[in-house]
Amino acid sequence: MRRAPMLLVGFWVGMAGCRGAPAGGDDGALAAADAASADAAVVDRPPAAALQVRWPGGRAELTPARLQGLPRVAATVEDPNRHAPASYRGAPLVEVLRAAGAGDALVDDATVVFHCADGYAAQATVAQVKRFAGLLAWQGGDGGPLPALPRHGGGALDPGPFYAMPTVAGATNAQHPWPYQVQRVELVAPAGRAQPMAPPGAPADGPVARGYAAFRGNCLACHAMNGQGGAVGPDLNVPLNVTEYWRPAPLRQLLADPLSVRAGAKMPGFAHLGDATLDDVVAYLAYMKNHKVPPPR
Ligand code: HEC
Repeated sequence: MRRAPMLLVGFWVGMAGCRGAPAGGDDGALAAADAASADAAVVDRPPAAALQVRWPGGRAELTPARLQGLPRVAATVEDPNRHAPASYRGAPLVEVLRAAGAGDALVDDATVVFHCADGYAAQATVAQVKRFAGLLAWQGGDGGPLPALPRHGGGALDPGPFYAMPTVAGATNAQHPWPYQVQRVELVAPAGRAQPMAPPGAPADGPVARGYAAFRGNCLACHAMNGQGGAVGPDLNVPLNVTEYWRPAPLRQLLADPLSVRAGAKMPGFAHLGDATLDDVVAYLAYMKNHKVPPPR
């Protein structure tokens, strides 16, 4: 299970060799040699897989060689997924998106969605990715493979092929998440494309708008709303909205403490958000039943 938001104390330890970004194409070997010569002690290892990138109106696959040719960054960060400092190497997320051809879509209020192997879909705005210097890592700081993360409940998991993270201290999980096993990065336009999970016509300072903000920060990574969002849990609006088949009291109880409603529930509890915020989230969920957008098949 993914962990709750946590504070980060991280810092840059330096840029790996970057004498100009590659001009484009699969010229990774040349640029990778540059990076290696600037930091000779570190083995320059390509990612284990290609990265899929989508943006409004386009998509691309960045091959391991292409990614290896991007400007490279090393960072030591306080990793909330391992509760300890750790070093990683990879490429700045902004450079990755540019290299894919998504440069024109990189406006500050666009949303970057990280799609993970287990259906989790964390997100941050482009402004947050810039502010917290988001890194797409595929190597440990020593040049070896990404070090395993402790698995919740015991054991270890491989965070590859890609592990995204903020590298500037102070990001909460809602501002810049730490998604691992990232396979695809999607850029969603702020207005160019409809935001099917937004509550149309809700007053900006009312409970529905507040609930929507809380939903984006806490729920959207696992749940889709009108077909957009994570796929760890079910879509909460289509075909039936959850408030159309859940009674209000048990629904509220489920959000606070899922295991008190359903044995074996996988969803984490949200009692820590407080009663007022959970009421707002339910107000948002209920509001959306009149604003269904059937997802495209
Ligand atoms: C880490 C992933 C995760 C997060 C975050 C998460 N959920 Fe869930 N949720 C699930 C899963 C998985 C289920 C399916 C039942 C289960 O295994 O608990 C579920 C079930 C539900 C259900 C019941 C759906 C049904 O059809 O019965 C509701 C309602 C719900 N979640 C609402 C929320 C809300 C609101 C939030 C944010 C406050 C949230 N969830 C955050 C994973 C998550």
